[in-house]
Amino acid sequence: VAYTAWSLMDNFEWILGYEHTFSLEWKFPNDFKLGVATASYQIEGAWNTDGRGASIWDTFTHNRSVLIKDGSNGDVACNSYYKWEEDVEMAKNLGVDSYRISLSWSRILPDGTTRKINQPGVDFYNRLINKLLENDIEPIVTLYHWDLPQKFSAWGGWTNPAVINYFAHYARTAFGLFGDRVRTWITLNEPRLICQAYKGLVGDVTSDFPLGTSEYMCAHNLLKAHAEAYHIYDKEFRRTQKGKISITLDFTWTEPANSSNPDDVRAANQNIQFDFGIYANPIMKFDYPKVVIDRVAQRSRLENFPESRLPKFTLAEKLRIKGTYDYIGINHYITLYGRSSPEPPISDPHIDLDAAGERFSNPNWEGCAAYWIKIVPWGLRNLLKWIKNTYRNPEILITENGYANAGDELEDDGRIRYYRSYLNATLQAILEDGVNVKGYLAWSIMDNFEWTHGYTLKFGLYHVNFTDPNRTRTPRKSVEYFKNVTRTRTV
Ligand code: NOJ
Repeated sequence: VAYTAWSLMDNFEWILGYEHTFSLEWKFPNDFKLGVATASYQIEGAWNTDGRGASIWDTFTHNRSVLIKDGSNGDVACNSYYKWEEDVEMAKNLGVDSYRISLSWSRILPDGTTRKINQPGVDFYNRLINKLLENDIEPIVTLYHWDLPQKFSAWGGWTNPAVINYFAHYARTAFGLFGDRVRTWITLNEPRLICQAYKGLVGDVTSDFPLGTSEYMCAHNLLKAHAEAYHIYDKEFRRTQKGKISITLDFTWTEPANSSNPDDVRAANQNIQFDFGIYANPIMKFDYPKVVIDRVAQRSRLENFPESRLPKFTLAEKLRIKGTYDYIGINHYITLYGRSSPEPPISDPHIDLDAAGERFSNPNWEGCAAYWIKIVPWGLRNLLKWIKNTYRNPEILITENGYANAGDELEDDGRIRYYRSYLNATLQAILEDGVNVKGYLAWSIMDNFEWTHGYTLKFGLYHVNFTDPNRTRTPRKSVEYFKNVTRTRTV
């Protein structure tokens, strides 16, 4: 006959004090960003239009299409170079307050160097940014989401430190062109993937080096490039533009298989340090994580390398990289269990072997069309808590999280379950664990070119018809769900 909810407001919960709250306000805070994410090569198309220069992904997909699941490429993709107004409409319909894009370096500086700015490319991003702002949607801008100007491929891509200065010049150019309207910048998207997953696949980028070597050279240069961009922003633009800038790292959460077994705990932590700490530590603490330095040195000695395969930062470099974040961007898709296993053979240097330990998934977790994605929301919650505790509670922006379909179905109940559970884990992290999460961006607003999976994996809230020259967009069922989230600010 009656129902009384406990409680109207947070209060003193006896022996739990103020740590656990039962407030009715199970809601995202007012300043929390709820948005969607995209990337230039995956949606824009118009690959050789209006003066855009080639990127390594144009060359790779054109020359080695056998390595793309459906032989496709991003020549047209979602055609967003022409359909950007419709994209903004879709974002508006979703009720999001932020929209993450990336800039195509070679659309702005066609050969990647300092020679010439391509005005039509700049006009395109101006139109898009202005349209978003007119609709009260904040543009969140990534400088580099994997589409390296082709020219650098012959130089060894990111394994060559010469690219750093060109990236710095590009960053300065972008801040100067768009920074009067952009308040949130991301320098690099998922450096680990740049250096590991796509190594050797993309043009000539890193293929000349033995495994476990080029990845570290690439990581080393990316960290320096990120720091240069950060300092340029900090010194030359921050005072007038008043924005924030950081990097986006992917975070595979590795949970100890048996948390009362110290060997499993060590193995899980080692994997986290090799995946995430290798980038996060130099930026948020100081230098590479000790376990990474020690293990690579030790394994290099056993391999009869006189020097460690892991390059060393000078003291000046360590100091220059340290602290180059105003928040930390996190892309999260994967949770795995980690357990200890016998030392891997030394005859086969590889970054995964340097990390050691085994990782595995639980077959009972609900999956989706992307084999690496399972619905494990507590993995997100645990990693958020881990970041809070490891790096002194920084601001966190979840810059990607998402679910893939394989077919053209519009009834995507799996995606709804996915977003509901991950958004709820985010709420738990904020409201119960006190993690400083400032936003959540869903990957992605629409189906797009999923790298080596081509168009076979569909991450969109909106479906895109890739056989239709008009690239018609249709809302999936999850659009209704996401609209509810942005309207009610709860799950
Ligand atoms: C992370 C990448 O940043 C993005 O480009 C990709 O499409 C998603 N993961 C899904 O795999």
